[in-house]
Amino acid sequence: MSEQQYLLEMLDIEKQFPGVKALDHAKLQLRAGTVHALMGENGAGKSTLMKCLFGIYTRDGGTISMNGKPVTFTSPRDALDNGVAMVHQELNQVLRRSVMENMYLGRFPTTKLGTVDSRKMFNETKAIFEDLEIDVDPRAIIGTLSVSKRQMVEIAKAVSYNARILVLDEPTSSLTEDEVEHLFRIMNRLTAKGVGIIYISHKMDEILRISDDVTIMRDGQWVATRPARELTTDEIIRLMVNREMTNRFPPKKNKPGNVLLDVKNVTGMYEPTCHDVSFQLHEGEVLGVAGLVGSRRTELLNTLFGYFTKGGGEVTMRGKKIENVTTDEARNNGFALITEERRATGIFGEGSITFNSIISNVNAYGKLLLNGRKMDKDTQWVIDSMRVKTPSKRTHIKSLSGGNQQKVIIGRWLLTNPDVLLLDEPTRGIDVGSKYEIYELILNLAEQGKGVMMVSSEMPELLGICDRILVMSNGQLAGIVERGKDFGGIPGEQETIMALAAKYV
Ligand SMILES: Nc1ncnc2c1ncn2[C@@H]1O[C@H](COP(=O)(O)OP(=O)(O)OP(=O)(O)O)[C@@H](O)[C@H]1O
Ligand SMILES: [Mg+2]
Repeated sequence: MSEQQYLLEMLDIEKQFPGVKALDHAKLQLRAGTVHALMGENGAGKSTLMKCLFGIYTRDGGTISMNGKPVTFTSPRDALDNGVAMVHQELNQVLRRSVMENMYLGRFPTTKLGTVDSRKMFNETKAIFEDLEIDVDPRAIIGTLSVSKRQMVEIAKAVSYNARILVLDEPTSSLTEDEVEHLFRIMNRLTAKGVGIIYISHKMDEILRISDDVTIMRDGQWVATRPARELTTDEIIRLMVNREMTNRFPPKKNKPGNVLLDVKNVTGMYEPTCHDVSFQLHEGEVLGVAGLVGSRRTELLNTLFGYFTKGGGEVTMRGKKIENVTTDEARNNGFALITEERRATGIFGEGSITFNSIISNVNAYGKLLLNGRKMDKDTQWVIDSMRVKTPSKRTHIKSLSGGNQQKVIIGRWLLTNPDVLLLDEPTRGIDVGSKYEIYELILNLAEQGKGVMMVSSEMPELLGICDRILVMSNGQLAGIVERGKDFGGIPGEQETIMALAAKYV
C-alpha cells in the first residue's frame, strides 16, 4: 500500500489565519476512480484544505502532488487548467445573469468578431445538461431558480471542465432526494472514468453509501483514513468529536400545555402553496412537520410568518386573532422564522459576528445610542450557546466555516426570545455534535412554554425530539402523528409517516 501512487496527495498542509490555526499537518490521499469522503465538525478545516488545493488560499506549508508530481495552483483558474474542479459550499453565482453565462463565467466563447458567442454557449450548455439529464433552461436567469436547481447547475459546471479531480463541498445540502440520487449517478459515471472525487458532507448515511475511503479531520489535523466499509456511523462520530456520543438526542422534559396557536384552513395566496391546513400548536410543544420535498412545508411556515401572503384561513394566538400581514408584524406578535436557505438569504457577509447576531433584534439595544454592553453580552450568548467556533466577536462572519455561519443566524433569532419559533431544516449543514446542542436549545425553549414548529427531512430527528408530527402531502395536511401513540419506539412509525406523506401525491 505504501508504494501506491495517489491521484492526489496532500501532506503536512499548514494554514494559519489571524487567531486560528485552520490546518495543522492536514493530510489527504485520494485514489483515482474513487469517492473519498472528508469529514469533521464545523470548523475542522475541510473547506480550507480544499481551498488550499484549489489555489484560493496559499498554504503556509506542506506538499501537494498529483500522480506523484508536486503541484501548486496559484489560482482557481490554474487548478481548473490542471484538471481540478470544485463545487463550493457557498454558491458564487451572478444572480442576474443567465444559467449559461454562469456556466461560462470567465471563459466566454467568442465569435470571430470578438463578441460573446451566445449561440455556442447555449448549445454547449444544453448538450451538457442533456448529457447529465438536468432539466434547466440555459437561458433562465439563475436568480429565479430554486437553490437546489442552482446547486445542480454548479455541479454541471464543475463536471463540464472534464477534471480528473472533482471536489464537492456539501453538494447535497439543498438537493431534493431525487436530485441526490441523480448526483450519485453522475458521480458513479465519473469514477468509472477514473476521476477522483473528494466529497464533503455531514450526512452520515450518504457518506457510507457513496464513498470508498473516509478521512476524518479534527481541529485542522488529520485523524484517520479508513475504507468506508470498515466504518460505522458511531465510529465516524467518535473520531470526529473525540468523545463517546451515546445519545443523539437530549432527554425530553417539555410538557405541551394550552393552545398557543390555532390555525384554521390556512391557504397561501400564490401557487405553489399550502391548502386548507388546520392544526393547533400548544405552549411547550415541539411540533414537527414532515413530508416529501415539494410538499410545501416551507410554504406553510412562510405563510404563517407573513413572508408569503395568506389567501384564506384564520390564525388565533392565545385566543386572539392575528394577521401577520408583514414579517415585522409577525415579529411583533412574537414569531421568529429561521429559513432553510440561511446562508443564501440571511447573512451579512461583511458584518461582524456581533452585527449578524443582533440584527434581528436591533430595537432591543436602544434607539439612538446602541447599548454596547448588552450587544456584547448577547453576542457572547450566541457564541456560547451555539458553540460558534470563532477567534472573536469582531470577526467577519464570512470568514467562519459554513456551519458556524449557520449557527450565528440561528442564534440571532433565538435572541429575539420568540413565543412561536418556526424552524426550517434547522440542522442542515451542521455537524453531529452541534446538532445535539441545537436540539437541546429547542427542547429548552419548549420547556419554557414556547411553541416550536420544525420542518425537517431527517426522520430520526423528528422522531427524536417532537411531540407530534404534521405530515404534509402535496400542499395538504395528510395527518398528524403523536408521540407515544404513533411513534416513540413503536415499530412501523416511519412507514406510517411515509404513507401519509404520499397520500395526495
Ligand atoms: N478566510 C478566513 N479567515 C479567517 N479564518 C478562516 C477563514 N476561512 C476559514 N477560517 C477558519 O478556519 C477554520 C476552519 O474552517 P473551514 O471553513 O475549513 O471549516 P469546515 O471544516 O469546512 O467546517 P463546516 O463543516 O462548518 O463547513 C475555522 O475556524 C474558520 O473560522
Ligand atoms: Mg466547510
